[in-house]
Amino acid sequence: MAGLVLSIGVLAGGVAAALLVDGSGSETSTSKNGPPRGPRVRRMKVGMLTGGGDCPGLNAVLRAVVRKGETVYGDELVGFRDGWRGVLEGDVMPLSVETMRGTLPKGGTMLGSSRTNPYKLDGGAEQVRTTMNELGIDALVAVGGEDTLGVASKLTADGLAKVVGVPKTIDNDLSATELTFGFDTAVQVCVDAIDRLHTTAESHDRVMVVEVMGRHAGHIALWAGIAGGATMVLLPEKPFDIEEVCAAIRHRHEAKGRYASIVVVSEGAVPAEAGTFQPHSSGEVDAFGHARLGGIGDALAKEIEERTGYESRAVVLGHIQRGGTPTAFDRVLSTRFGIAAIDAVHDGAFGHMVALHAGEIVRVPLGEATGELKLISKDLYDVAKVFFG
Ligand code: F6P
Repeated sequence: MAGLVLSIGVLAGGVAAALLVDGSGSETSTSKNGPPRGPRVRRMKVGMLTGGGDCPGLNAVLRAVVRKGETVYGDELVGFRDGWRGVLEGDVMPLSVETMRGTLPKGGTMLGSSRTNPYKLDGGAEQVRTTMNELGIDALVAVGGEDTLGVASKLTADGLAKVVGVPKTIDNDLSATELTFGFDTAVQVCVDAIDRLHTTAESHDRVMVVEVMGRHAGHIALWAGIAGGATMVLLPEKPFDIEEVCAAIRHRHEAKGRYASIVVVSEGAVPAEAGTFQPHSSGEVDAFGHARLGGIGDALAKEIEERTGYESRAVVLGHIQRGGTPTAFDRVLSTRFGIAAIDAVHDGAFGHMVALHAGEIVRVPLGEATGELKLISKDLYDVAKVFFG
């Protein structure tokens, strides 16, 4: 390409980087996501935020964005505190390679998170643009699930902000990406718990009901059930017949003699027959209209015990699944997403989300990513079913 020179520069943070630049100081994009998109813009002010439930790997994403942004592009990076709340209120903190040290293995998010929805507040969406202008921020990297990215998608469509999305949720229910980071860690936490519960279930010939997260989709329950050797897995996608569940447990204990059972249930699972029993405990809803779930495990254990006569106990794993250090897999995925996100910013690929497709990181339109949820696949459910009862 005419006019290109190879320069070796020592950029902010003291790291040597080789950049293919043209006379204007722009890096040439050689993204795998299609043809080169023209010269990459250098030196931007980029804001980041994490929204929705916390998730192992969030800090690893931030760290990767900061690392490449600062050392390769010469960017100025800032973080908004508590998701969209920080953007609405201009609540920012400077981020640098130095401030990100030691964050890779840490769970949670150093920026804090919230479920604030700018579109639910008077003038909220316009306030996002005002903050960006006042702080001189060129682009935003929003790390979140369907709600946070739904806002990012609308803001981009409304021309109010330039946003690149990074998919996050332990529930793994975002379409357009095969996996979200945090999911692997959550499944491992559940499997560790199920392995421990097996010993009590076996020693006392009990039914142990394990309630796991999964509001709309049962990916965590299904994976944990397969990996943990569950007797039965109950998912939001498939309203369950309580009599069928009890019949499988009876058969297992009666035909096989003394035999423990583990039933894994997603928090969002419901009985097929409305009113059979009352599973969920709270009527509270958040700014995105989601009810606070929890309670199906207890209700189910009580019902199983009454119907079968086998002692049944419930364990709710709750936020333990979202806490703690990310697995190696999630650290690598988060890091890859972070690097891809800052590249997307510099390619001007706003309104897109980075995603995993067949092991490769690609870009997909945010609208596509937030339009519908990814539910469990029939193939995987059929695998789990072989081990029911
Ligand atoms: O992140 C999604 C999720 O894990 C859902 O499975 C669950 O219903 C929700 O978060 C719980 O969030 P909160 O921490 O607000 O109770």
